[in-house]
Amino acid sequence: MSAGPLSQSPLWRWSAQFYERAATEAWSKGIVPWRLTNSVRVAEAYGRLISAWRTDLIAAGFKAPDAPVEVLELGGGAGRLAFHLVRWLEQAKVPFQLTWSDAAASNVAAFNARTFVQERAGAVEAVKLDVLQDPMGPPLAPDVVIGSYLFDTLPHDAWAVRGGRLVEQHVRVELPPGTAPECERAELHWADVETDAPAFVRGYAPRVGEGGFMLPVGALQCLKRVTEWSTGRCLVLAADKGEPDVAAVQAGGSPKLQRHGGISAMVNFDAIRAWWGWRPFLRSAQAEPDLGFYALAQGLKALPVTRMTWSASFGAESLLHRLRELDALLQGEASVPQLLQALAAWRFDPDVFVRMAEPLRASKPTPEEAAALVAAIDHTWENHFEVGGDLDVAFEMATVLHRIGQLTRAAHLYERSLELHGRHATACFNLGLCRLDLGDRDQGAMLLKEVLELQPGHAAATRILAQL
Ligand SMILES: C[S@@+](CC[C@H](N)C(=O)[O-])C[C@H]1O[C@@H](n2cnc3c(N)ncnc32)[C@H](O)[C@@H]1O
Repeated sequence: MSAGPLSQSPLWRWSAQFYERAATEAWSKGIVPWRLTNSVRVAEAYGRLISAWRTDLIAAGFKAPDAPVEVLELGGGAGRLAFHLVRWLEQAKVPFQLTWSDAAASNVAAFNARTFVQERAGAVEAVKLDVLQDPMGPPLAPDVVIGSYLFDTLPHDAWAVRGGRLVEQHVRVELPPGTAPECERAELHWADVETDAPAFVRGYAPRVGEGGFMLPVGALQCLKRVTEWSTGRCLVLAADKGEPDVAAVQAGGSPKLQRHGGISAMVNFDAIRAWWGWRPFLRSAQAEPDLGFYALAQGLKALPVTRMTWSASFGAESLLHRLRELDALLQGEASVPQLLQALAAWRFDPDVFVRMAEPLRASKPTPEEAAALVAAIDHTWENHFEVGGDLDVAFEMATVLHRIGQLTRAAHLYERSLELHGRHATACFNLGLCRLDLGDRDQGAMLLKEVLELQPGHAAATRILAQL
């Protein structure tokens, strides 16, 4: 293939095809990072910001007090953020209309098949929308637009200043044979080329000084389209990896591409900020290359409630730091109250629970702690959003409940595990034990026989069946 600008390379097309093929497996198999951006905590913070923006719109006379806030999510992936967001908005009684979208038809079909979507027909709608290609745009003028790990996935260009001269870093892509996704196999050969740089690039380059930098041309194109769709008045909530400021751009070198089935790049948020110009641009506290949260506003002269809400949430703390604190807690010898406190701080997020399941199984809670643990598991299960794959939340919860003697609850969750993840010997065996301990001999024996079908020679199942 001949060399050309990075944004014109086939990498982005292959990446889109990867998402279409992988569908929700991109998430269930952990190919794509998504834990934090899809967390209950982020959904709650977004819910508060959406409500705040709605208040500012009403105060400025741009929305009737009883009109719903129109939310558009772009590149929604598996849809878990939307699930948590919808439930938060409902609980907070914020009138809303959510249009959820993704360029991959497979993701849209999976989202539409979700019960929580079907139960909310009219309030939640899914559409296939390619933010760059779709000629029509969404079926609404959004007040709020959400895009998590979207800007990194859209095309980027690579530039550099060498000895004071601005050059474009062109790429030639070769694709050796193989079965791995194209973006992972591709070999990239870079060359500096002198070209006529667009005015924005010429204006931006002196900010960086010497060295390479990337420009998120896809994200800028997306923001341009969002401005058109919203007729110039909306709040954009973006979460992504990238460079939060010019110092990070200068430190980073370039081009910075990551391969994970598809391809993505560090998003130059410093360039986005420059491009956004005088319009309000809010950045999370200690935004860092791994992940930053950003709010881009336009169309309101003042946004006091939105600013205040941002300052109290993303502006006040770094969720990545909070996540690292959780890692540290889980690496030490945390007590049950400490673990439950952390679970509450993460708003009873099932992902967080799964990470603490092992220490909880090993713990010896007091009766009061056990009661609090049961209540916390009930609460956390309500937040469960199944993506399949190896992460079996119901099984993790069941085993913790089983250890503390909560047999009925444990049995219920073993059943959910079997329903959602298929019949597997360990869950059948544990459920069989629960049934026997609950006095249901027939059910217990039936399950142990099933264990022997699933795993012939299972020693414990054979022994217990012989005793029955
Ligand atoms: C890295 S995933 C992020 C998914 C989700 N927002 C999250 O945080 O887990 C990127 C998503 O953007 C979608 N996508 C890629 N290119 C797109 C485009 N041009 N328009 C809309 N969606 C796109 C992909 O199908 C994929 O679901």
